[in-house]
Amino acid sequence: MKQSNEFKNRVVYQIYPSSFCDSNNDGWGDINGITSKLDYLKDLGIGIIWLSPVYVSPMDDMGYDIADYKNINPRFGTMEDFDNLLKEAEKRDIKIVMDLVINHTSTEHKWFKEAIKGPESEYFDYYYIKEGKGKKHKKLPNNWQSCFTGDAWKKVDSLPGYYYMHLFCDTQADLNYHNEKVIEEVKEILKFWLDKGVYGFRCDVINNIWKSSLKNDFPLMIYNRGLKYYANQDGMFKTLTRFRTEVLDNYDCFLVGETGVLNKEVGNRFLNERCLDMFFEFDHIYADKSKLIPVFKRKFDARRLVKPIFKWQKDVPWIANYLENHDQLRSVNRYGNTGKYYKESAKLLSLFLLTLKGTPFIYQGEEIGTLNNPNASLKNCKDIAAITTTDTFSKLTKLNKEKSFKFINETINRDHARTPMQWSNDVNGGFNSGTETWINVNEGYKNINVANELSDEKSILSFYKKLIKFRNESDVLKKGDFKEEFVSKYIVSYFRSFEDKTYQIILNFSDKKHQFNEVLNIKQVFANYDEEINLKEIPPYFAGIFEVK
Ligand code: NOJ
Repeated sequence: MKQSNEFKNRVVYQIYPSSFCDSNNDGWGDINGITSKLDYLKDLGIGIIWLSPVYVSPMDDMGYDIADYKNINPRFGTMEDFDNLLKEAEKRDIKIVMDLVINHTSTEHKWFKEAIKGPESEYFDYYYIKEGKGKKHKKLPNNWQSCFTGDAWKKVDSLPGYYYMHLFCDTQADLNYHNEKVIEEVKEILKFWLDKGVYGFRCDVINNIWKSSLKNDFPLMIYNRGLKYYANQDGMFKTLTRFRTEVLDNYDCFLVGETGVLNKEVGNRFLNERCLDMFFEFDHIYADKSKLIPVFKRKFDARRLVKPIFKWQKDVPWIANYLENHDQLRSVNRYGNTGKYYKESAKLLSLFLLTLKGTPFIYQGEEIGTLNNPNASLKNCKDIAAITTTDTFSKLTKLNKEKSFKFINETINRDHARTPMQWSNDVNGGFNSGTETWINVNEGYKNINVANELSDEKSILSFYKKLIKFRNESDVLKKGDFKEEFVSKYIVSYFRSFEDKTYQIILNFSDKKHQFNEVLNIKQVFANYDEEINLKEIPPYFAGIFEVK
């Protein structure tokens, strides 16, 4: 089928269904809630929704632990609700992209339940279920670590001496892609949703699906141990190319991959072998935390944010750009200013995101400048990764759990992104009208919310709307080449050009005025300050698009 490549023209908005809008007042966001907000999204100017998982799941990892790929979690509604969402979205020319979580399934999935009946089960080889080593098979099959810390293997209670692999939490069992039947199952899942009319998939930890060996890795690595045998392996590229030729080519659709740990060659291989249409890189997320031990915060430096992003702008023809998602803390807390220049900095971040080459992904709440939850606590923490990492950190450092959580909370507690969407200053921020919510609301909703910002022309939300419109109408921003001018600790400048038109983007990532030395013949066409600025004195957190004459 001919591909429209519409994903190159549209802005994507990620919805975290549990926390978007609760239409039936049971404390959980739901599909009908999402449908009720389609006009809001249309008005915002977005053209694609990425839905985090809505499938049947015990929700140990908030839906990234799927127990049934072809049914909707009753918490979110029914298949009829989903079909209705698709229909209503289509009416508004909004496309829907699903989350495809195929590295692992929940241990509640029927395949897993069957598999652990023993080696004779036809599902046994769907997973990595291996005998332990040593006397009576008491030792784990290898020394790999889970990405959520701790061993990557867990005992199978029903099969003495056997363990199953879980690269994430211990109820997320890794699927075995060496088994042809697993590949066939995934192809069926892809067809099922594509036949319904979804426009593609965001592929969860997709570069980890192929384990080329189960050898021990270097023991001193405290996290990512095993990575060299499971990240970016040949078998993964081949499997994805098969999905493309055997299924995806029959539909107008696209794939965006979540691909941690990459380099230029691997990135280009994804695109050249048509495994993915674009991917998320994870190099820039260390701008405010240690790369070696990410639970340690470090002072934000714009160069550490911008340089990796620019590197990817130059290294690949197309990429998925983002500053936030459901796994990241809020961007204004991390890269902006929560004080005097809160609004300017939130607008700067949006202008940065929306003027890069590639497809921009906005995460729910980012468009209103949602901040981290100031009242997050271990007691109320829902994020399984934050909880397990707190345990491990506490064991390693001998700090008590509360003190350990303080580190985790400032750097990797994913709950900050998962508090209910702040729609208004009604009870629970307008997320529902009841008293209950699955996760505590962020009290910040009293000031930061959609209703306030819709009625304020100078709000962050109004800025996003104008900027998205500007982008949607601009071939330079949608199709133009990228060229870096320079990146300093404070000032960043780059060009986008298409045919005979060039824009220069200038950003000031600091709360001080700075001088821009090289003044070209440029005209300000879009900015987060009302007045035309003097480039000799760029105001704090200024962000502007200039037309080069
Ligand atoms: C990445 C997802 O974004 C995250 O939320 C999840 O915990 C892991 N993959 C495991 O599926």
